[in-house]
Amino acid sequence: MTERASIRSGSLWLILDLPDQGMPRIVAYADDHDGKDIEGLGLRGARVNGMDIDVPSAVLLPTGGLGYFGWPAIAGHRDGRAFTLSPSAWTGASNGNCLRLTGSDPVARVDVQIDIAAGDDSLFEMSARLTNRGADTYTLDRMMAGSLLIPAGEAELTNFTGSWGREFQTRTKPLAHGLHLQESRRGRTSHDRTPTLFIQTGVMVHAVHLGWSGNHVMAIDQLDDGRRMVHAGELFEPGEMRLAPGEHYQTPTVTHVITHNDLESAAYILRRHAWSHVVDRANGAPRLHQKSPRPVTLNTWEGTYFNHKTEQLTAQADVAAKLGIERFVLDDGWFGRRDDDTSSLGDWQIDRRKYPDGLKPLVNHVTGLGMQFGLWVEPEMVNPNSDLMRAHPDWALQIAGRPLLLSRNQLVLDLTRQEVSDYLFKSLDSVLKAHAITYLKWDMNRDLTQVGDAEGRAATARQTRMVYRLLDRIRNAHPRVEIESCASGGGRADYGVLERTHRLWTSDATDALERLDIQHGASMVFPAGILGAHVSGSPNHQTHRRHTLSFRALVAFAYHFGVELDPLTLSAAEKTELGEWITLHKRLRPILHNPDWQFQLPPLDGRYVWGAESPEKIVVVVAQSGQMRNEQAAPLMIPARNGKSGRWRVASVHPAAPDTIRPSAAQRDLLAGQSTFSMATLRAAGLLIPMLRPESGMVLELEFIEGLDHG
Ligand code: GLA
Repeated sequence: MTERASIRSGSLWLILDLPDQGMPRIVAYADDHDGKDIEGLGLRGARVNGMDIDVPSAVLLPTGGLGYFGWPAIAGHRDGRAFTLSPSAWTGASNGNCLRLTGSDPVARVDVQIDIAAGDDSLFEMSARLTNRGADTYTLDRMMAGSLLIPAGEAELTNFTGSWGREFQTRTKPLAHGLHLQESRRGRTSHDRTPTLFIQTGVMVHAVHLGWSGNHVMAIDQLDDGRRMVHAGELFEPGEMRLAPGEHYQTPTVTHVITHNDLESAAYILRRHAWSHVVDRANGAPRLHQKSPRPVTLNTWEGTYFNHKTEQLTAQADVAAKLGIERFVLDDGWFGRRDDDTSSLGDWQIDRRKYPDGLKPLVNHVTGLGMQFGLWVEPEMVNPNSDLMRAHPDWALQIAGRPLLLSRNQLVLDLTRQEVSDYLFKSLDSVLKAHAITYLKWDMNRDLTQVGDAEGRAATARQTRMVYRLLDRIRNAHPRVEIESCASGGGRADYGVLERTHRLWTSDATDALERLDIQHGASMVFPAGILGAHVSGSPNHQTHRRHTLSFRALVAFAYHFGVELDPLTLSAAEKTELGEWITLHKRLRPILHNPDWQFQLPPLDGRYVWGAESPEKIVVVVAQSGQMRNEQAAPLMIPARNGKSGRWRVASVHPAAPDTIRPSAAQRDLLAGQSTFSMATLRAAGLLIPMLRPESGMVLELEFIEGLDHG
């Protein structure tokens, strides 16, 4: 007899049937589940597959060959045999907010386990495991982490494209008939194929994010009856996932959000979930990011590059401390003989030419100023021009008979060899043990190619797991050390790496104009408090554009704020101005970094708006990219999720005199805090603020003053 299983996230129920044969069926998403009306609400489709029996298409992890004609979410075999999968004897067990479904296929001789965990609100995490119960090798060609059903009808897909320096570029397009497939084969999360998508139908928004830093697949498959299944999981190279008897394959975790509202509501749910449940959770760890305000950072890269000189760096630290900076991160160039990017990766010994007395004097100087000390590393990589490579030429990933392919002059170490992983752990461990270092910027500056292990087998899946294991080992050995995930900017930004890290370097593009789209896209998935955003020099090093300090600072200041320039080059006036932005950031960051309060609006006519809304204070950042086309800017519609009913006013504007265009008298009064408005007005009609000149912006602080009306 069919058993029913259900799991609830907030007010949303996911209702499943555990059939006698085949994968668990998705019966309904329901807002309230009293056991009745389920079939009415249901997601059951028409019987259109032409078979004489009812073969349900809406199932978790559908498999092929037995009357389901869609894209299979699991495909495996025993040397070409046992190529169909249809588990039976399902059981469901709930434990707290988790539901575990377990089935077994006596023909294919595998067990399948599906875990669904409910988040706080309209969010489910799914992962699955397949165990080989046979006496010979079972090869998995594909196994998705989870799949969910999207209603039939017109639908729009929003996902992200990009490249180095242009990550998280948001694209929306109608979802066509057939199969939409995203495959990423770079061996890291990638700049161009972010494992996130949003599907908007007339009925719902579904958001899907795969927490995985290796190769991935995301598939949206239209079924015979017009509905769609969305699948996400790891992508295997040929023959990569071979399970010996008794071995299992565990998928990454896919996060699904299902809401009736708009994209921003789904993004809000993802951001809150990431902050509260994902960041730093892998090691049952102390959740460092929640324990202390996110420190304002000076990163030495763009101000110093490889040209490390102790006196210069200590002088920079002195100025940084005076500016209010709280963390000093020494970027690339401190180890081996690293004068440019052609050498020394792998040689994690301090460069005595640059640091004759080691790093201690600089570390002690920085910590003596009350700042934390952070260090850049790129553990997975090796330059052919390094002592490590000369000693162990076989330690790089390679395929016998194939050329070694360099990227940024470097190769990738084979972390599937335990001795390589141990070497890296020891190298990092000894640097961390010897110094008061509380932060690592963990970089990864190339895509993976020729990913062959010592036996010549494809190894991306294992390599990715070994990177996670190394991160976990470091976190366990040094629980007070925070880690930033960087991969030529935002090339490794996903919930998988975020489980063992605390910050993402959003992009190597520090140009404020470029950052508008990058940060907007990244904020569809990640909370502001973990997205690194720095004020860099002008002209900008990547684009050569010039921007005012005010524009550079206001674009960065709501995120995990930092500075990436040589502070010794700042004029007195610039130091004062930058110091003021840092002070403002520190005052407002408890609001700005609270994901319950963060919001962003869809960009409109070149205007980007984001910020945070607490019950009594709303901080709104408004940035204008190009010239507005309209005569008058559209009213600013703040989501008004948390603000108290009653009267509000603009309490302050930063910079004090923003670069506005033809403000009306009423707008001038508004910005000067001389008029008040009700929360009801803010919700219904928005704020009419003046247009801004291109490449300028303003930060508004709105303040609750009294609760007189019923707004
Ligand atoms: C990558 C990072 C940069 C910087 C350099 C150092 O490009 O994204 O921020 O750390 O490496 O080589």
